Amino acid sequence: MERTLAIIKPDATARGIAGKILARIEEEGFTVRAMKMVRLTKKQAEGFYAVHRERPFFGSLTDFMSSGPVVVMCLEREGAIAKWREVMGATNPAEAAEGTIRKLYGVDVEKNSVHGSDAPETAATEIAFFFTGLELV
Ligand code: RTP
Ligand code: MG
Repeated sequence: MERTLAIIKPDATARGIAGKILARIEEEGFTVRAMKMVRLTKKQAEGFYAVHRERPFFGSLTDFMSSGPVVVMCLEREGAIAKWREVMGATNPAEAAEGTIRKLYGVDVEKNSVHGSDAPETAATEIAFFFTGLELV
């Protein structure tokens, strides 16, 4: 079993589709080990996306991620990291495969509705960013 961090981003919570995305997560065989809704400050968004701080889109991304509530979840499944990225689809919704969450719901390359960890080390760091051991059931 493997764990990954998923986020339902502000563009999706604003449109009231968090429930649809959670239903898809459950259908795909993930177990939710922790979940909460939070509104990140700009500083917290900058901390979470620190690996991207030199990228040209860093300012815009962290403005967006702090623009409204997000739903953060720790998901567990066999091969959870790769499977969740497969279900999310490509970063740019225009390039995402049919049926993926980003193809179905993503607005553009930034407002792409969901986040997923990209490797075991980043999954561990990202889960610990949002959840303490006590919050993981
Ligand atoms: P994520 O980390 O959110 O799961 O997305 P990802 O791995 O598919 O993409 P990544 O390269 O890590 O980028 C993180 C997020 O930054 C925004 N982005 N904007 N304007 C742009 O060219 C651009 N590129 C990326 C997206 O919100 C992306 O998910
Ligand atoms: Mg990423």
